[in-house]
Amino acid sequence: MHYVPTEYRYRGPMTRALITGITGQDGAYLAKRLYDIGYTVAGILRRTSVPGQLKKLEWVFGGKIPESIELFYSDLTDAPSLTRIVHDFVPDEVYNLAAQSHVGISFQSPVSTATANALGPMNVLEACRSMGSDAPRFYQASTSEMFGKVQECPQNEATPFYPRSPYGVAKLFSYWLTVNYRESYDLFGCNGILFNHESPLRGENFVTKKITQGLAQILKGKREFIELGNLEAKRDWGHASDYVDAMWRMMQQKKPEDYVIATGIQHSVRQFCEVAADRLNLNLEWQGEREHEVGYSRTLGQTIIRVSPQYYRPAEVETLLGDPRKALKQLCWLPKYTFETLVQEMIDHDLLEQSGGLS
Ligand code: GDD
Repeated sequence: MHYVPTEYRYRGPMTRALITGITGQDGAYLAKRLYDIGYTVAGILRRTSVPGQLKKLEWVFGGKIPESIELFYSDLTDAPSLTRIVHDFVPDEVYNLAAQSHVGISFQSPVSTATANALGPMNVLEACRSMGSDAPRFYQASTSEMFGKVQECPQNEATPFYPRSPYGVAKLFSYWLTVNYRESYDLFGCNGILFNHESPLRGENFVTKKITQGLAQILKGKREFIELGNLEAKRDWGHASDYVDAMWRMMQQKKPEDYVIATGIQHSVRQFCEVAADRLNLNLEWQGEREHEVGYSRTLGQTIIRVSPQYYRPAEVETLLGDPRKALKQLCWLPKYTFETLVQEMIDHDLLEQSGGLS
């Protein structure tokens, strides 16, 4: 079969986008972004018995998800259903954001992580490919975790990969699969190699949210302390709303390529704690060493952070720092948030939530 590169297709203002993982942090921000610029948006979500699955999506839309946003129940492991959805909805662009996204949990659950993060994208790619000359453009949520034990600093699109977790290894598979479908079938497929990106919508078991939500709860007297793992890990933290904009920009290029999306600035988990505590006037003081280290609040007169080895990972990614120059130049992408405004927004949100202001 001959595949017509999608760059030659007419792409009007009512472009149709299908987002897997639409209920997650990135899915919600991306849905809002695309909806605001006139896209017809649809999303795929997994059925769950846990209530509140649409909370993030509702939040970005100020409480109510627009009726025009179609939601399909499916799963990345359900190839026939994905194919049916793609054939029914006929998207121009498919953003594959669904994944088991927690690196630590991937050590405990490697097979389900690989199924969702490696075979899942293959199913989505196959569904796209089955559209023949109508194949949509495809975005794969690749990750800086693929750099793992970093081979150079900072990391750019040419840096060799060295993943350090089942999560990173599975993501590397889908990265190369996207490249392979691009080269084999002329499919417009691009990888966004996104460094850590956070927001008020971040899940509660990621370190940034654990810190901002935990400190807000401590301040409101709802808990005594939080427990963290490796305080020395360094990350290049940006804001999810900036990063979904980069995803969209990649998909509007003439040629499909892969891009590093990062701020180019790095902080440690320890520094994140310090900035967050500072914003809350907690007067944080570190005492002790290694697993006996604690963060003491002089304002409250109590220990508010403890180190617990249960959060150490069997193999750690000690440092990540991205070089976003290609994205800055080719995509004209520029993040609006700084590290400080990111932390501030998360703190403000969590304080309001703990005061009952968001219920
Ligand atoms: N989650 C967590 N919880 N991490 C902790 C904790 C803790 O209590 N204490 C220290 N850390 C350290 C982790 O060991 C890691 O080095 C760092 O904080 C960041 O952890 P996470 O916030 O869980 O994010 P991540 O870097 O492992 O992965 C995130 O970013 C990737 C992009 O680089 C996720 O969003 C991935 O899905 C994404 O691909």
